[in-house]
Amino acid sequence: MTDFASLLVADREQKARPIHLVDKQSFEAWLKKRPAEDRSLIEAMRFDGKTANAFVILPRGGEFEVVSAVKNTTELSPWCLAKLGESLPEGSYKLAAGEPGNAALGWLLAQHRFDQYRSKKEEEPERGPRVLVTGEVARIDAMVRLADATALVRDLVNTPAADLGPAEIERAVADEAKRCGGHLRVTSGSELTKGYPLIAAVGGAATDARAPRLIEFEWGKAGDPRIAIVGKGVCFDSGGLDLKSASGMRLMKKDMGGAAHALALTRLITLARLPVRLHLLIPAVENAVSGGAYRPGDVIKSRKGLFVEIDNTDAEGRLILADALTRASEENPELIVDFATLTGAARIALGPDLPAFFANNDDLAAEAEQSARTTEDPIWRMPLWEPYDEMLKSDLADFANAVNSPMAGCITAALFLKRFVPEGTRWAHLDTYAWRDQAKPGRPKGGDALGLRAVFALLEGLYSGD
Ligand code: BES
Ligand code: ZN
Ligand code: ZN
Repeated sequence: MTDFASLLVADREQKARPIHLVDKQSFEAWLKKRPAEDRSLIEAMRFDGKTANAFVILPRGGEFEVVSAVKNTTELSPWCLAKLGESLPEGSYKLAAGEPGNAALGWLLAQHRFDQYRSKKEEEPERGPRVLVTGEVARIDAMVRLADATALVRDLVNTPAADLGPAEIERAVADEAKRCGGHLRVTSGSELTKGYPLIAAVGGAATDARAPRLIEFEWGKAGDPRIAIVGKGVCFDSGGLDLKSASGMRLMKKDMGGAAHALALTRLITLARLPVRLHLLIPAVENAVSGGAYRPGDVIKSRKGLFVEIDNTDAEGRLILADALTRASEENPELIVDFATLTGAARIALGPDLPAFFANNDDLAAEAEQSARTTEDPIWRMPLWEPYDEMLKSDLADFANAVNSPMAGCITAALFLKRFVPEGTRWAHLDTYAWRDQAKPGRPKGGDALGLRAVFALLEGLYSGD
């Protein structure tokens, strides 16, 4: 794990190279005030102050200063320093004016690498850390934690399925429980078959070493408001007997992305010591193929007692979440949040960068959308459109797990989950991609946290009381 705390440090008037941030509005005025040799160098480099992420180095007799263009100098985006964090030489840096605020996040994450699987490390010759000096001492911890939580999601999602099965997810949760003193409970084997039939069915085809389980973790004071966080932990989604195509299966090591988000959120909540009684639930399975696989046409009685007909074994996420949501509801939480890489349809609707967000309460939805804006971690609300509920009808069971229609797939998946959430319980569901197909500064191609900061800010707003 990258030591983010060493990359964002308090200003004690130590030596640090200045970084001048300019934007379209401020550039000309800023340039006028510079010495002639700076101006000619900036001109020669064709630096126009408009192209975000472009930067120039101004020599200062053996040392240097940096000028970088950002979209808006008065409102720094979390990613506007990422290119610098990625590219500048080793050393300490400080903004020439103002403080980095949220932009510290990009600076930190730009220096995170997932290179366990490379015999040659990416940065060769080895480059030292780029340290950002900040006067906002009170925010350092929070920024470091956000970077750390994001890196946790990235690393878990990037780890190949062969090295990250249900047992390894359990280990990750157990490590977290040990760190913060929470209580861990893991249900597997015959207890799982009895208590969580849908989780057991989906995980039934996996080898013994990758047996399905429900991982639960509780933390916090008994009297504090109860919240549940649920994450889809499908370590690999082959589709089951309704086998995916080669291209459809290619990225499916990331199908535990919801679990990774849920665990990272747990880390943020416990480190911030939010006054909540937290219940984390991760159904962890591999959706594999073998003689033990569940089949299309099977009917399974869920933990809630509702009979589900399996229309498609590739719609496995909603099944394992259904039993986990039922378990969560048994403790009467006032809020349930789930994260899941649930449907391809959410990606068709909103593309890779925008998690589809569903909520059964308009106030909750409005607060979540506001948090998404302030953290610049976008989510997009989609409707729990009741008339589509009938699409889930089954000829012989209470309802089916999938719909024989390519339309509104993320809505019908959310409506399926809704059947397992009690009427009066506030519930938010994020259908997230957990992946980035194209690298951006501070955000390499691969696993990524999408919606994590927005939901954490939502919880802070609801519970931190300030
Ligand atoms: N894990 C997939 C969803 C997914 C696919 C997320 C691609 C991100 C990218 C999920 O288990 C799945 O296979 N869903 C099916 C549901 C269908 C069979 C009703 C889908 O979306 O095609
Ligand atoms: Zn699937
Ligand atoms: Zn899946």
